[in-house]
Amino acid sequence: MADDQKKIDEVTGVETTGHVWDDDLEELNKPLPKWWLYIMYATIIWSIGYWILYPAWPLASDYTRGVLGYSQRQIVMDQVEAGKAAQSQFRDAIAKAELGEIPQKDELLEFALAGGAAAFKDNCAPCHGRGAQGFVGYPNLNDDDWIWGGDLEAIHDTIRYGIRNADDDSRQSDMPKFGEEQLLERPQINDVAEYVLSLSGAATDKAAAERGAAVYAEQCAACHGENGKGNAELGAPNLANGIWLYGGDKKDVVESIHTGRGGVMPPWHTRLDDVTLKQLAVYVHSLGGGK
Ligand code: HEC
Ligand code: HEC
Repeated sequence: MADDQKKIDEVTGVETTGHVWDDDLEELNKPLPKWWLYIMYATIIWSIGYWILYPAWPLASDYTRGVLGYSQRQIVMDQVEAGKAAQSQFRDAIAKAELGEIPQKDELLEFALAGGAAAFKDNCAPCHGRGAQGFVGYPNLNDDDWIWGGDLEAIHDTIRYGIRNADDDSRQSDMPKFGEEQLLERPQINDVAEYVLSLSGAATDKAAAERGAAVYAEQCAACHGENGKGNAELGAPNLANGIWLYGGDKKDVVESIHTGRGGVMPPWHTRLDDVTLKQLAVYVHSLGGGK
């Protein structure tokens, strides 16, 4: 349409396209705004660039790969490989490190704690609880009361060889069956139980506790220590701190003395590799009150 034929619609003052319907219905010339058009052109150009650079078009049995060779799958696989390489680097470092060195190096510590926590949930939680809080007969590993010692080496040995099992290096010891084997009379057991309770301020019968002190000194101090503080060499628990493996009610204490006790933990060196055992030791040590 030439310029001289431009026609302006009288009502709106807008130029018309010259198209007319039903004799008097004229089409106004209202093109899309320029900014809108430019953005649309830009997206078209963008998409062409995208098709060239990136995977875009599905083909019968494949797809166009784009000149950049980008592949999300490959990126994930590379990351997995890199993760494995990084792990084996840490595993090697832990294998070589002395136990005591591991907590001193942040990277090793972090790796040991993560691996230890995972191995703990898999292997130890059934007996010690998911939070290592323990149950009657299965010690809480979060407190700083350690039957067999709470430094890294001691914890590592306990885990490695276990307790009162058939392994040659297992920790061994017995709490004698003072009642069953008639090493003590019933009243003596009652008295010494009161004495033991008095060590944590829980005795109810003072006279009995006083009588029990002599029995204790003669029969118990050799393992549990003169003032009941325990002996980690013998796995004899502290009787004076109010933390009880088998319960601290009078009847529990009497039962411990009457029938003896002997908790069993399996050895783990036969089932877990050295790196995992170290990780577990570091993890358990970190739980709280490692010495
Ligand atoms: C079958 C049950 C069982 C399993 C599984 C088990 N434990 Fe134990 N664990 C015990 C018992 C029972 C004791 C206490 C033995 C005793 O009375 O001296 C114990 C004691 C310990 C101690 C010594 C605590 C102290 O106060 O000295 C540590 C440390 C320990 N376990 C760590 C572990 C770790 C780590 C695992 C997993 C690799 C594990 N345990 C798996 C039963 C188990
Ligand atoms: C030969 C060493 C030995 C002698 C002697 C001994 N104990 Fe023990 N006692 C132990 C051991 C080891 C344990 C822990 C058993 C276990 O962990 O399963 C224990 C556990 C106990 C417990 C349970 C503690 C808890 O936390 O629940 C009590 C109570 C106790 N002994 C009291 C006595 C009294 C009282 C005597 C003396 C009459 C005595 N023991 C003599 C080794 C001994």
